[in-house]
Amino acid sequence: MRAMNSNEIRETYLNFFKEHGHTIMPSASLLVLNDPTLLWNNAGVTPLKKYFDGSMIPVNKRLTSCQKCIRTNDIESVGDDTHHTFFEMLGNFSIGDYFKDEAIEMAYELLTSKKYFGFPKEKLYFTVYASDNDAYNKWLSLGVDENHIVRLESNFWEIGEGPCGPDSEIFYDRGEEFDKEGLGVRLLKEEIDNMRYVEIWNNVFSQFNSKEGVKREDYKELPSKNIDTGMGLERMTCVLQGVTSSYDTDLFKKIIGKIEEL
Ligand code: GLY
Repeated sequence: MRAMNSNEIRETYLNFFKEHGHTIMPSASLLVLNDPTLLWNNAGVTPLKKYFDGSMIPVNKRLTSCQKCIRTNDIESVGDDTHHTFFEMLGNFSIGDYFKDEAIEMAYELLTSKKYFGFPKEKLYFTVYASDNDAYNKWLSLGVDENHIVRLESNFWEIGEGPCGPDSEIFYDRGEEFDKEGLGVRLLKEEIDNMRYVEIWNNVFSQFNSKEGVKREDYKELPSKNIDTGMGLERMTCVLQGVTSSYDTDLFKKIIGKIEEL
């Protein structure tokens, strides 16, 4: 794995997707304009909803960004090693361009190639939506061990109203030191809260538009099949710098040091 500072991680991600035909979008403001369903941006995809629902046409069907976010739906976990209310979300997006195959291939290349992040393949685990054989088989075709792929009914990403769909999450195994009971992959299969497997990337296969008061099976299809991904910068930095918590990374250390001094 390559030791990198947080700026290098951000640049490596955005430049990889630029090399793969994406336009780098600046982060939108945290405060949301013209969307009564949101108080603030809570994911990379939220400022792009207008492209996913077809109400606006993007400059490029391939976009990438590092979006400032505030997320509170998992606030019970904030304060552990890797959950934050404010964070930066790296993401790559396809608006009716590539779909599952290419999204999964690019994610795997960026994570495992020595040219980029260089993760050891045996340290990565993948979850897929229970009935998503396409995603399951795609990971297998890249050489992933079947014992490292877990099917989960809960792998469906949605947050508020907007683009949503089945997803495939990528986890980094921090090892037995973070798993005192030695439960191993059961932690993922049984969705037990843990600090061993850290979710570093989520690939959402965005096909539906969620609406409050509408059941999931009745969500309308979006005009096209899209990709929406999220890789939390703070978590990725924590894992790549080999520290226990995001607060021990270069993103926070100087700030915490200054507070201590004061
Ligand atoms: N939109 C994908 C994520 O935030 O995980």
